[in-house]
Amino acid sequence: MELRHLRYFVAVAEEKNFTRAAERLHIAQPPLSRQIQQLEEMLGVTLIEKGTRPVKLTEAGHFFLAHAKPLLDQVGELKSMTQRIGKLERTLSVGFVASTLYGLLPDIIRRYRNNNPEVEVTLHEMTTVEQIKALKEGRIDVGFGRLKSEDTSIRRILLREERMVVAAFPGHRLAGSENGVRLVELIHESILVYPKAPRPSFADQVLAAFNHANLTPESVVEVRELQIAMGLVAAGQGLAIVPESVQGMHHRNVVYRKLIDKHAVSPIFFSIRHMDRSPELENMLAAVYAIYDDLGIPHTKETL
Ligand code: BEZ
Repeated sequence: MELRHLRYFVAVAEEKNFTRAAERLHIAQPPLSRQIQQLEEMLGVTLIEKGTRPVKLTEAGHFFLAHAKPLLDQVGELKSMTQRIGKLERTLSVGFVASTLYGLLPDIIRRYRNNNPEVEVTLHEMTTVEQIKALKEGRIDVGFGRLKSEDTSIRRILLREERMVVAAFPGHRLAGSENGVRLVELIHESILVYPKAPRPSFADQVLAAFNHANLTPESVVEVRELQIAMGLVAAGQGLAIVPESVQGMHHRNVVYRKLIDKHAVSPIFFSIRHMDRSPELENMLAAVYAIYDDLGIPHTKETL
């Protein structure tokens, strides 16, 4: 059995469709079907029930999938870690969600660059879900994101829980609430959530905050990204709930008001590949904690 067989089977099982799996693998469908058949012959068991659409796995197929996926993740990790160790120049690719750019990310990156001038740092804006994939594929070395991924090949360190705030047009009735706003006051408003895809995303954290308070907003509008949500807020098209660091994005036609509900928070995670203990990452984590200490932001400290 070769790695190719595992990759092909996982693609079919995840896509539940041979045509889509072949597209994802950039191969034609007939060779894909032949490889799956070959795999079943080698194992002497049926992995996919015959004639089912969408594709259905047998019990053996489910077992094989559950064990093949972590194996492929480990192979990906082995590849990127070996490439990283073998590289002469020191580099660090950082993935980040857009909201962190308006908060502490620039300070953290500057601090890191000052202390580690020999390391070439690159920055890539991506959602948390995209970060997990990019970490596994070796395209980034660390991700600053907001969602808890259950992926076992990724290690997450919770940096802090950031409070959420409401962004409103200055003429909005809630813009005058200098002492803060409660979620219950927002349920008859149009709530702009982002990003629309991929899910889960920060949009689901906002909806979960309402859910936690047993509330359902009457109108939820999904938009592509943070900047679009803020533009629509400025146009008076609705309200957006954003992490408080977004207040660093000054807009003439947007005001921010505190959300009083205690659970209205969004975590910030430092995500890395499980095996990665490189000095570049240790120093990046140290840069985050140094900025927190400078600004008096309470936090716990973890080591790699
Ligand atoms: C923060 O706001 O806590 C943060 C932002 C970017 C990277 C790490 C932490």
